[in-house]
Amino acid sequence: MRGMVFTELFELIEEKFGYDMLDGVIEASNLENDGAYAATGSYPFEELVTIVTNLSQKTDIPVPQLLEVYGEYLFGRLIKALPQFNNPDISLLKFIESVEDHIHVQVKKLYPDAELPTFEIISSNDDELKFNYVSKKNIPNLAKGLIKGASTHFNQNVEIEFEPTNDGKTLFTVKRI
Ligand code: HEM
Repeated sequence: MRGMVFTELFELIEEKFGYDMLDGVIEASNLENDGAYAATGSYPFEELVTIVTNLSQKTDIPVPQLLEVYGEYLFGRLIKALPQFNNPDISLLKFIESVEDHIHVQVKKLYPDAELPTFEIISSNDDELKFNYVSKKNIPNLAKGLIKGASTHFNQNVEIEFEPTNDGKTLFTVKRI
């Protein structure tokens, strides 16, 4: 499953920018095995950052924006690959809240080598969810993109804000609009 984060990124690059761009980005990134990741294999996370950085240089699109677009796309792919986690009967905010206690827990059981973030829920009601995103990888823009993807999937509009905390976490506020 971890490799999916890569294979889907490659698919998105090819879809949006064409095969030559994908080829150029892979070449510039000096990937360990030329980018031949199996969807079920593992990958060095740093390579994801290298790929997105090289894509940013070639397209002049800032890295945070690319990560966000990628997260949005990835959400749809994850839910398709693991449809057991699709739950159309709950609200978007409840769904996001359930990622920590349910979805990522199950993902970890299925793929023990997955490296997942932690969401520390700070407050939650029908209109607003606040949580700290805690991750060794620390890619809040990817998290924001995943939430945007979930918002589209659930057809529920939200405003998403995040800010770094002074203890190395990222505080997310997701509000219904
Ligand atoms: C809005 C909801 C979600 C958010 C905000 C979220 C957030 C994230 C983030 C930010 C990462 C990157 C790792 C890190 O930051 O430490 C990640 C990884 C991952 N998530 Fe989620 N996630 C969500 C929903 C889901 C769902 C629905 C699934 C499965 C159907 C899922 C499965 C995974 C998997 C497989 C990984 C990769 C683990 C790895 O590379 O080792 N996530 N998630």
